[in-house]
Amino acid sequence: MRGKYQNVNANFFVEQDYASYTPEHHDVWRRLYSRQLELLPNRACSAFIESLRQLDFGAAIPKFSDVNPKLKAQTGWELVAVPGLLPDELFFTLLSQRRFPVTVWIREPHEFDYIVEPDIFHDFFGHVPMLFDQHLADYVHAYGQGALKALKLGSLGYLARLYWYTIEFGLIVEPEGLRAYGAGILSSPGELVHATTPILSSDASCRQWLFFDLVRMMQTRYQIDRYQSTYFAIESFEQLIAKTAPDFSLLYLALERLPALAPDAHEPSDQILS
Ligand code: PHE
Ligand code: CO
Repeated sequence: MRGKYQNVNANFFVEQDYASYTPEHHDVWRRLYSRQLELLPNRACSAFIESLRQLDFGAAIPKFSDVNPKLKAQTGWELVAVPGLLPDELFFTLLSQRRFPVTVWIREPHEFDYIVEPDIFHDFFGHVPMLFDQHLADYVHAYGQGALKALKLGSLGYLARLYWYTIEFGLIVEPEGLRAYGAGILSSPGELVHATTPILSSDASCRQWLFFDLVRMMQTRYQIDRYQSTYFAIESFEQLIAKTAPDFSLLYLALERLPALAPDAHEPSDQILS
């Protein structure tokens, strides 16, 4: 992993050493932010656009200590600075405590369009505005608690798929059309367009949009190195919370007997969005 793990304490936390960001780092942030901002109308969900407008952190890399009091007051969440990806158990423990880990480093100019690991632009721009939304904030918290349970049951793989198809690559049906609420989409210019633009008959790039289906999501493998082939759309955040509230223990047992599906699978029972 590329972050600086030398300075971590026992919790993997680091300081956000704000003075260490160079003018070039802030410039990369500003350029990423303004490119993404232009793409948001008609593509990002209204909660995201509204939070971003209020936060207005496009001028420089944001300071976690500025955001934390506002976030804590609004939804009870808090950001913690980390060097990069964390061990699963620590990551889910943090979510279950309403603490969201945010990577401190920013990508280099040559990685402007694509990075393999999440940097501060993905973690902050993609996730933080949605953590200001009470529904999504509560969902991520419930998810963290559920993941600790799944870890004990040996079923974390299923929940990892749910994370992927909701918190990272989730879409929502809004009155004006399909909009993104997943951080992986919201922080990526290419995927934001890919995920929300209807396929024209001349367009060969394959992707499909399915209605939210808990079992189907947990069966479907995902690809981390290319745009998604399948997106799942919720009809409301209330629906997402209600459908994921029941105890999953028996569902995990049932899933053991179902086949895993390819990222681009088409199933006869699929509820396709038109
Ligand atoms: N209801 C799930 C369980 O009992 C927990 C959960 C909630 C998981 C929300 C994901 C999202 O395991
Ligand atoms: Co993410």
